Formats: sequence, C-alpha cells, structure tokens
Amino acid sequence: MEMRKITMLGTGLIGLFYTMALHGQRSRDRVCTIYSRSEERGKKMAEEYGIPRHTTSMEAAINDPETNVVVIGLPNHLHLEAVRMCAKAKKAVLCTKPLGRNAEEAKEMLRLVEEAGIFHGYLEDLAYTPKTLKALATIQAGALGKILWVRSRETHPGPHSDWFWNSQMSGGGAIIDLGCHCIEIARNYIGKDVMPIEVMCWAATQVKPIEAEDHAIGLVKYANGAIAQFEVSWSFRGGMDLRDEVSGSEGVVRIDHFLRTGFEVFTAVGMGEYVAEKSETSKGWIFPVGDEVNTLGYNHMFADMFDSIEQEKTPMESFYDGYIVNAIMDACYLSAKTKKWETVDLAIWRGRTDIKEERILIEYNAKHYLVKEEQLPDGRKKIILKKKEGGKIVEKEV
Ligand SMILES: NC(=O)c1ccc[n+]([C@@H]2O[C@H](COP(=O)([O-])OP(=O)(O)OC[C@H]3O[C@@H](n4cnc5c(N)ncnc54)[C@H](O)[C@@H]3O)[C@@H](O)[C@H]2O)c1
Repeated sequence: MEMRKITMLGTGLIGLFYTMALHGQRSRDRVCTIYSRSEERGKKMAEEYGIPRHTTSMEAAINDPETNVVVIGLPNHLHLEAVRMCAKAKKAVLCTKPLGRNAEEAKEMLRLVEEAGIFHGYLEDLAYTPKTLKALATIQAGALGKILWVRSRETHPGPHSDWFWNSQMSGGGAIIDLGCHCIEIARNYIGKDVMPIEVMCWAATQVKPIEAEDHAIGLVKYANGAIAQFEVSWSFRGGMDLRDEVSGSEGVVRIDHFLRTGFEVFTAVGMGEYVAEKSETSKGWIFPVGDEVNTLGYNHMFADMFDSIEQEKTPMESFYDGYIVNAIMDACYLSAKTKKWETVDLAIWRGRTDIKEERILIEYNAKHYLVKEEQLPDGRKKIILKKKEGGKIVEKEV
C-alpha cells in the first residue's frame, strides 16, 4: 500500500472532515499541502493537523511536486476551475459533491479528466456509509427481490456558510446541496446501469429569505419502472435527519444514519458546544454520533478511492456518476418550474439501453396468479387469486 500524499483544497467544514478522516485511525495517508484563501486559517489548520505546507495559491497547492492526489473541498462554483488545474497538472483528483452546479459544468469536468487521462473520484460519502455498503451488498445478493421504490431523506436547518445561500455560487438550494446525496444513494440501490428516465419535482421557499428552494420533494423514474423519491429541506428543525428506505418485491431495508441511531443522551448541564453536524442544541435530549467521519462514510470512501488508484480501476463513485446526478437535478429544477414530468437529458449514458419496465407476476397454478395470502386473527387463512383467463379476482379459504 502506497502512502497517499494529499493536496487539500479548502479549509472549511468538509476540508476539516476529510482531513480528520484521512489522518484518523493510524492512517498512513497524509495531507501535505492545504490551500486556503486565508493565510491565517491555512496556518491554523496546518498547525492543528501537522500539515507541512499551506498556501493561498490554489495553483501552487495543486502543483506541489510532493503530492499525488488533490481533494477538492471548495464551494461549488470553484469545482470546475480546480478540476481544470488538476487536469493541466495531470494529477489524480477527488471532488466533493455536487460535482457541478449543473450538468453542463459536470460534463466539462468529466471531459477534462478523461482527456487528461487522470484518475477521478466523486466524493459522495453517503453512498459509502457502513450501513449503506452493507445494505447494498445484501440487496445485490437478492435479499429484497426486485427494487421497486427507494426513499432517501436529508433535511436540516440549513447550511453553515454564506456561499451556499447564494445560488450563483452554489447552483441552487436544498436540491443541489442535499438532493445530490439522495439521488445517488437511490441510484446505487436501483442499479447504476438502469437509466433514469424522467422526474417530477416540487420545490418551494417556505422559510428562508432566499430565491432558491429551501424545501423540495422529487420523484425520479427509472427505465425498469423503479421509482426513487427524495425529500430535502434547509428549514427542518431538530438536527440533521438522514434516512433511507428501500422497498423491493421481497423485502425492505430501513436506515437511520444520524439523528436517532440508538444513541440518546439527556443532559441538563450541556455537552460542550458541538454534539454532531447541524444539531441545534447541546442540552436536554441530544443525539450524539459515535464516530462521525466513519458514520458519514468518509473512511470507506477514501479507502475505495485510494485502492482504486493503486489497482488502476474505476472507483464506485466517479465523475461520470457526478455528471448523471447533475443531469437528474437539472431535470428536477425544470420540473419544479413547469410542474410537469420532465425527461432527464443525458448527453452521455454508459449504462444499459435495453431495460424495459417489467411487471412481477407470481404464478399460483396453471390457471391463476397469486394476488395475496392473508392470515386472519381467528386462525383462518385466505388466498386471493386472479384468473389468467378473463382476469377475475377471486378469494378462497384454505
Ligand atoms: N457530505 C459532504 O459530502 C459534504 C458536506 C459539506 C460540504 N460539502 C461540499 O464541500 C464543498 C465545500 O463546502 P464546506 O461545507 O466545506 O463549505 P465551507 O464554507 O465550510 O468551506 C469552504 C472553504 O472554501 C473557502 N472559500 C470560500 N469561498 C472561496 C473563494 N471564493 N475562493 C477560494 N476559497 C473560498 C472557504 O474559505 C473555506 O475554506 C461544497 O462543494 C459542499 O457542497 C460536502
């Protein structure tokens, strides 16, 4: 295992979480250079995390001859510029979510890294949480049958820096910031080679004094008939609610990642200033998180990225995936305006094109399909059947 020497772009919340994950648990990987606009902030973070170099020049940080991978943790409007510099420097690049502010930007980033022939990873941590990885493996082994419906929710009281609230810089509101996670989580469960076809989205600005949406719900329909539902909010009170639900023809998975994970504390005196990301209180009933960077998937995500660099393979999440997510979000913004189902415009699609919607019919006998078996409280058992010929629905006690 080769040591990864990292250039970290950005010293905000995600730069901090990434550095904590990269330096955690006796890791041999090290952030060697950080870029911050602020000399003071760069210096402070370098001292705190034992980072040998810091600079106020993004270009100098990317071109540091000692580093072999660049991590982009900058506001959304700077991702393209940073990727352009990495492509020029021919250095492996990992970019946080969302990849672009829209699909056009994301497509350009994909073109740049592919033409430069550099490694690229999309840092979609919530696809890598230990719970998600376990659920994905279970589902891929067939435990839930055919996946029919995925519901993914990320809601919190709103982001922590000015630029998120400026849609020129961020590209939108809660959809671009949080919907990107939910959309990619669902895509993983439904199958990445299944094409997202069309979307229906409601978005509104209910609380915050901004133009962009602070609340949205969307439906993404896939070629095989599966539906993905996302629920996002910047005006939800009470902390950060991250929940997923996967429903298949043979079973269900429900995951609570953050708010109510079985770790509940009551304190009348308080628990210091910080409890967990976006928690609104540190007194009373609170919900701490055991190991935040691990719970949020950062460790498994970087492990996949660095293993993939060494094995010269594509990671689970690449810039291509980031581009697909941006294309779905573009269609969501359009649908929220037109109030109609809108097609996902995919100029680039590398998955299957032969998948059609399929109905699942359970054969009961030569003449009937099974609709439902029911055990009644008094011990009787009923079977509801559909006649193949004529389609009549009948029931009988067995
Ligand atoms: N779970 C996740 O994957 C996750 C979580 C949070 C943020 N993010 C993403 O990380 C990126 C950064 O978000 P954040 O939460 O760290 O934001 P932040 O505001 O906490 O930090 C942003 C960093 O960029 C710097 N910066 C801001 N404007 C700049 C400019 N014009 N030029 C140069 N530097 C500038 C800031 O000084 C700071 O170091 C965003 O793309 C965001 O979507 C991802």
